[in-house]
Amino acid sequence: MTNHEPLALTVLGLGEMGRALAAALLPAGHPTTVWNRSPGRADELIKAGAHAATTIGEAVGASPVVITCLYDHASVHDVLDPVTADLAGRTVINVTTTTPEQSRELAEWARTRGIDYLDGGIMAVPEMISKPGSLILYSGSAEVFDRTEPALRLWGDSRFLGADAGLAPLCDLAILTPMYTMFAGFLHGAAMAASAGVSASDLAAMAAPFLGAVAPSVHHFAEVVDGGDYAAPGQQSLEFSDLSDFVAASEAADVDPILINAVQTLIRRQVEAGHGKDGFSRIYQSLRRS
Ligand SMILES: NC(=O)c1ccc[n+]([C@@H]2O[C@H](COP(=O)([O-])OP(=O)(O)OC[C@H]3O[C@@H](n4cnc5c(N)ncnc54)[C@H](OP(=O)(O)O)[C@@H]3O)[C@@H](O)[C@H]2O)c1
Repeated sequence: MTNHEPLALTVLGLGEMGRALAAALLPAGHPTTVWNRSPGRADELIKAGAHAATTIGEAVGASPVVITCLYDHASVHDVLDPVTADLAGRTVINVTTTTPEQSRELAEWARTRGIDYLDGGIMAVPEMISKPGSLILYSGSAEVFDRTEPALRLWGDSRFLGADAGLAPLCDLAILTPMYTMFAGFLHGAAMAASAGVSASDLAAMAAPFLGAVAPSVHHFAEVVDGGDYAAPGQQSLEFSDLSDFVAASEAADVDPILINAVQTLIRRQVEAGHGKDGFSRIYQSLRRS
C-alpha cells in the first residue's frame, strides 16, 4: 500500500503494456477499472481485483483519471472521440507512443473539451514495469502530474519534463533512436561474423559486455556537445575514426554496408569541412539541419 489516498483509475487498452500498468496499480489499493476493445484480455486483472467495464462509457465514467495505453495516436482518437462528453472534467494520461506533434494535438484536443491532459513516454518493456530501471517520462499538465504521481510512481521512476505535451514523446523517441541503431548495428555485425561461421549468439556473448562498458560514453559526448568545444582534449579525432576498414570488411563478407556507411558519411562531411582534428562528437553538426 502507498501512504497516499487511493485514486480511482481506468486503464483503456489491455495489450502487453496496458495489462502490466493496470496490474501494478492494484496491489497499492487504487480502485482500477479496465477496458479493452476485444474481449478476454482482462481475466488475470479481474482475479487480481480489477473491475472490467463492458463499455467504454462505463470505463470512463468509473474514474476521474483515465489512462490510455493503446496502439497509436489514431487508436487513441478511435477510443476517446466517442466519449468526449463523458471525459469533460476528467483527466486523461496518455502513455501510448506517439510523435511529439501527435501529443500536442491530443493536448489541444483535450484542452478545448475541458479535459486535463498529461502525456507519457514509457522507457521500459512490460516485464520491467514496477522494477528498478523502469522510467516513465511525462509532459503536459504539471497539476495532473503532481496530483497523480503517487500512483504513477508505481510503474517506475516518473520524470516530469515540462508543460509542452510533446516533450515526453520527443525524449522517448530520442532515447529509442540510439537503441534501434545499436540493435541494427549488432545485426550488421552478426551478418559479418556469420560469413566466417561465428554464430550470432557467440558474437552477442562477446559484444554485450563491451557495449555495456562503452554506453556511459554518451555522458562524455553530451558534455562536448553542450559545451560546444569539439576540439576539447581527450577525444578520438574524426580522422582517427575513419570507418573505411569497416566498410571494406562488410563488403568482403557480402554484407550491405548501409549502416556503417551512414556513420562514415557523417564523419566525412565534417572532415571535408576541415574539422578532422575535432572529436567524434562533431558529427552532431552533420546531423543538425539548422
Ligand atoms: N510493449 C512494449 O514493450 C512497450 C514499451 C514502451 C511503450 N509501449 C507503448 O505502449 C502502447 C501499447 O503497447 P502494447 O505493447 O500494449 O501493444 P499491444 O500489445 O499491441 O496492444 C495494443 C492495444 O491497443 C488496442 N488497440 C489497437 N488499435 C485499437 C483501436 N483502433 N481501437 C481500440 N483499441 C485498439 C488493442 O486492442 P485489441 O486487444 O482489441 O487489439 C490492445 O489493447 C504502444 O503505444 C507502445 O508503443 C510499449
